[in-house]
Amino acid sequence: MDAVKKVVIPVAGWGTRSLPASKNIPKEMLPIYNKPVIQYVVEEAQRSGIEDVIFVTNRDKSVIEDHFDYNLQLEGVLERAGKLDKLKLIREVAEMVNIMSVRQKKQLGLGHAVLCARDLVGNSPFAIMVGDDLMFGGVPGIKQLMDVAVAENMSVVGVMEVPADKVDKYGIIDGDEISPGVYRVNNLVEKPERSKAPSRLAIVGRYVLKPEIFDFLKQVKPGHGGEIQLTDALQGMATSQGMLAVRMSGMRFDAGDWAEYLTANIYFGLQEESLRYELLDKLKNFVQFK
Ligand code: UTP
Repeated sequence: MDAVKKVVIPVAGWGTRSLPASKNIPKEMLPIYNKPVIQYVVEEAQRSGIEDVIFVTNRDKSVIEDHFDYNLQLEGVLERAGKLDKLKLIREVAEMVNIMSVRQKKQLGLGHAVLCARDLVGNSPFAIMVGDDLMFGGVPGIKQLMDVAVAENMSVVGVMEVPADKVDKYGIIDGDEISPGVYRVNNLVEKPERSKAPSRLAIVGRYVLKPEIFDFLKQVKPGHGGEIQLTDALQGMATSQGMLAVRMSGMRFDAGDWAEYLTANIYFGLQEESLRYELLDKLKNFVQFK
């Protein structure tokens, strides 16, 4: 498989779990420490060698594209004030990657959102990164999948082991481990009942796929929750072309889940030397550490 240079990042969902914070601000723009959630995702793409980012958006999400563009007025203000470190920070964000976008006019599910990007992706293998799933530590998340996809010339989905009581929140794979951490996918099920889950290996918002996925997506009928599920198209593709799953290393935060969102904020706060001790001190006032 050729090197992967494009990523589709769907950000058109309603973000109902993040209400009321996400009523007028996209949940992808909520901050984790000093950056919006989506910036961490785009940074992961950039560190993995991706050049083109395709956002799948809706009418209320243009602020996401603006974040990755120049803000000349603000740059002028910072320059005149001599705040050159801040100027550098905001320019870097505008220069990270090429940005393209396409509208998903009706929110018909993640699979449908990906299908909306078909013309912008063209006929090359591409990555998908879910816009509120954050991965940290070691080799950038999507790079872990790209390396296997290119070496094996196969489509690859990222998985992580989840607790047994969480399997009904994810797409779950049934696979055979063919080398350490790499599975041949036999079957995928979207949000299975806990007693029927084939494993605890959950698909976690990172994919590297061949462009034929669009043909499978075209055929998918509305599935779980009445949505066009990406998992259903992946199932068709796995059966006819084969597919691998890679158990991803590193930490993951689902920024659409409040407990994980708040944990991510504390995690990044604690990474910052100038904040760490003050933050720990304040936390100690109302947390009983064992
Ligand atoms: P989520 O399951 O997180 O859905 O979608 P959501 O609607 O955004 O959030 P909740 O569950 O209501 O809080 C996974 C990803 O797929 C995108 C979302 O923006 C998110 O990044 N998505 C989902 C779309 O782009 N379009 C859709 O129709 C559905």
